[in-house]
Amino acid sequence: MTTYRIAPSILSADCARLGEEVSAVIAAGADLIHFDVMDNHYVPNLTFGPMVCAAVKPYASVPVDVHLMVEPVDDLIQAFAKAGTDIITFHPEASRHVDRSLSLIKDAGCQAGLVLNPATSVSVLENVLNRLDMVLLMSVNPGFGGQSFIAHTLEKIRRVRALLDEYEAKSGRRIALEVDGGIKTDNIAAVAAAGADTFVAGSAIFNQPDYKAVIDAMRQELAKV
Ligand code: DX5
Ligand code: ZN
Repeated sequence: MTTYRIAPSILSADCARLGEEVSAVIAAGADLIHFDVMDNHYVPNLTFGPMVCAAVKPYASVPVDVHLMVEPVDDLIQAFAKAGTDIITFHPEASRHVDRSLSLIKDAGCQAGLVLNPATSVSVLENVLNRLDMVLLMSVNPGFGGQSFIAHTLEKIRRVRALLDEYEAKSGRRIALEVDGGIKTDNIAAVAAAGADTFVAGSAIFNQPDYKAVIDAMRQELAKV
């Protein structure tokens, strides 16, 4: 029985009231807080840094899932670890030494993950599975909330699920499979059926007045898988 986790992305929250928004979405049933870090270099948008993460942390009674869309990554890994984050994922294209960046995350006591863009090949995972706690598959091109789910991601989710299952059978260690971008109540079940266990949703949750109603509806859909 898979445990499903819903990770609201505070990119779509009211940034003038981030602490309250984090509390509200946790009260509504969030399992993780997804924190999108953009640098206007790796992606064409600029969001929050470690200072904002540290400010939000006291409101987060669930793990903080930092998604680094920055280049380079190593200095910010250390800064976010100090800010109290629990999970740090980054894009392999943005690090010159992927294995070293993963080690930095692990040495800082955080869970580590790689993020694959829609065009990034699954093969980047093969040599670092032993370092990973999470794989994050982008189902949009990174940089903005509110984009449409790219349908062919479903096939990629199935391939990564098979790779992670094979690794788990050999190692006894389960790596989480998170999907990010365009997830809504009407497609979350298909994403789960393809093999994802952790679901980022920004606009689908924060653009509605009742966060609990959306998260409950997502869980009802997940119960059908
Ligand atoms: C996009 C971000 C996402 C974004 C998802 O680069 O990584 O986490 O907030 O937003 P929605 O759910 O609106 O597609
Ligand atoms: Zn994200």
